[in-house]
Amino acid sequence: MPQKVYIETVGCQMNVLDSELVIGALRKHGYSLTDSPNEADVLLFNTCSVREHAEEKTFSALGRVRNVKRANPDAVIGVLGCMAQKDQELIRKRAPYVDMIVGTGQLGAVPQLVEKVRATREPQLAVSLGRTDAGRDEVEASFVSYDPARDPSMRPTPFQAYVRIQIGCDKFCTYCVVPSTRGPEQSRPPVHIWNEVRQLVDQGCKEVTLIGQTVNSYIHESGDKRTRLSDLIAGMHDSPGLERIKFVTNYPKDMTDDLLHAVRELPKVVKYLHVPVQSGCDEVLKRMKRNYTASYYMDMLARSRELVPGVSVSSDFIVGFCGETEESFQKSMDLVREAKFKNSFIFKYSERSGTKAAERFADDIPEDVKKRRNNDLLAVQNENSRADHRAQVGKVVEVLVEGPSRLGSKTSRDREGAGILQLTGRSMADHIVVFDGTERLIGHTVRVAINDASPFTLYGNVLTDEVVGADLSREPHVYTSPVRPDRFSLPLV
Ligand code: SAH
Ligand code: SF4
Ligand code: F3S
Repeated sequence: MPQKVYIETVGCQMNVLDSELVIGALRKHGYSLTDSPNEADVLLFNTCSVREHAEEKTFSALGRVRNVKRANPDAVIGVLGCMAQKDQELIRKRAPYVDMIVGTGQLGAVPQLVEKVRATREPQLAVSLGRTDAGRDEVEASFVSYDPARDPSMRPTPFQAYVRIQIGCDKFCTYCVVPSTRGPEQSRPPVHIWNEVRQLVDQGCKEVTLIGQTVNSYIHESGDKRTRLSDLIAGMHDSPGLERIKFVTNYPKDMTDDLLHAVRELPKVVKYLHVPVQSGCDEVLKRMKRNYTASYYMDMLARSRELVPGVSVSSDFIVGFCGETEESFQKSMDLVREAKFKNSFIFKYSERSGTKAAERFADDIPEDVKKRRNNDLLAVQNENSRADHRAQVGKVVEVLVEGPSRLGSKTSRDREGAGILQLTGRSMADHIVVFDGTERLIGHTVRVAINDASPFTLYGNVLTDEVVGADLSREPHVYTSPVRPDRFSLPLV
């Protein structure tokens, strides 16, 4: 009987990719994927520690599988990723039936650890001991051993893939657990990355998203050869079959001109930068140890927009950080008004044990104040998102069609007979675009004339004559798009 594995993933793109790699490795050992926990022989939870809410999500998922374990005592339950690295004791206390706890640097060993649990029925723990050089070696080894074992069924779509170019983080923002859950910052050798991209493109992948916690700090040195992110992108840009290159997430201090020139000049590079500012107040930024001021950030933004005309920019904010007065918060309000981001992800500060902020500063902003500030900042951002999206009406944009729109299927049902679906994809400036078309457009780049906008979505008509690289003739030319569901762009956490 083939063994079945069930997996749930919380967290950032790094975790989505890790889950893909773990499933890829397990498939090589004969496992198949199931979406039913009751049918599974192995149940995995790939976890995130960035905010308390993310951790609670995992604990409630673990609560739910307790019954699975009662019904099937042979099932192997594993907790993977950032929480496994940070909170082994807590996991063992709150979910003693967990069979294995595997940190971010040990994921390559998951198949062996499952076998060990089966053979011994002893709980298995595999985590890094700290941010040591040994940790670096472990991770370097796991790059080589498991990055090639990718699993297309776990990707956002079959033609889009994440590629890790950097692991870990050395910035140590005082609120953040990532430097301890992911270890020291390391840039992967460019040749490994280029090979991986080539493999992905051979498998039919059209868009790669290069990921790193501070992706624009990427630098690889070998002898006297230095590769920056701009060089890395240039080195993969001309791969035949590759249509789009994205990169996330950027650190404001490392937004260099060479990178901005690459974004402007290389046609496959998406004209979109995610550059989290976190706060508009210099004192808060200092306590966060972000190493820049609000005016530095605004200058960086102006330079990016000057060097890459039409570039879309999005940001992250934390509200209610330790000691954030009403006056400091108003500075974030001013910044968000002025910056005109396409969108922002806004988070209420969540104190994380082990961080410098938890050690040094009191988490002194009451929950209701954090909530109000979150709503206030979001309201201003939403106005800007509305204006940003409205400004696209009348333009024709290139969309890589990802699939049926999540909210569109019901409303389109009456037209299914005609083979028309509501489809969605993203423009080169990262706008979500919804339009009607046929299934055959999925996975292709089409041109869409934008005729309407909500704060988070553009609506339009596909110009089927202009489909790039596919034989889609004999379709009616223009479909109208009467349905306007709102789709929100949310982070996974
Ligand atoms: N490496 C990326 C993102 C890290 S986590 C970067 O530096 O930009 C994603 C976002 O979560 C951060 O940008 C920050 O806004 C938020 N975040 C991180 N730690 C947090 C905490 N303790 N409480 C609330 N939000 C947090
Ligand atoms: Fe966390 Fe700061 Fe590193 Fe981002 S740059 S992962 S916020 S420590
Ligand atoms: Fe990502 Fe969460 Fe870990 S944001 S790096 S999965 S703590």
